[in-house]
Amino acid sequence: MDNTVCQVKQPTLQTQRLTLRPFCFADADDVQRLVGAREIAAMTLTIPHTYEDGMALEWIKTHPIAFSEGKDVNFAIALNNTGKLCGAIGLGINQEHNHAELGYWISKPCWGKG
Ligand SMILES: CC(C)(COP(=O)(O)OP(=O)(O)OC[C@H]1O[C@@H](n2cnc3c(N)ncnc32)[C@H](O)[C@@H]1OP(=O)(O)O)[C@@H](O)C(=O)NCCC(=O)NCCS
Repeated sequence: MDNTVCQVKQPTLQTQRLTLRPFCFADADDVQRLVGAREIAAMTLTIPHTYEDGMALEWIKTHPIAFSEGKDVNFAIALNNTGKLCGAIGLGINQEHNHAELGYWISKPCWGKG
């Protein structure tokens, strides 16, 4: 994955199978396709269904400011063996009360793999 279009200065995290990295504008089509599954929206508070054209790019564009202001941090979850996007994980941060809420989704083709 070409990460040169990433705008966000946030860390990239590695596990044995996965890379958690900042989203890139180039991820927008994959986000729309994967998060567009009804089962994903049904279990999350803020993901709409139907997920319209342009929503993913607008969401990704919010990441740099949200991260730099300490409001949100979002990571793309990519498979190490293929580089393919398989989900997202993030924290919505409440600075006033010094806590955060975790949100995540895994694309349906990647379900059931632990
Ligand atoms: C939740 C999610 C990440 C699980 O992915 P997955 O690949 O199926 O997860 P795993 O294979 O690691 O674990 C599956 C286990 O979790 C259970 N599980 C999955 N979703 C669950 C839910 N909403 N409530 C309770 N248990 C759940 C499954 O029954 C299964 O249990 P089992 O191993 O005893 O059969 C995926 O279903 C998803 O993205 N859902 C939509 C978004 C979402 O619900 N996000 C979490 C809240 S923000």
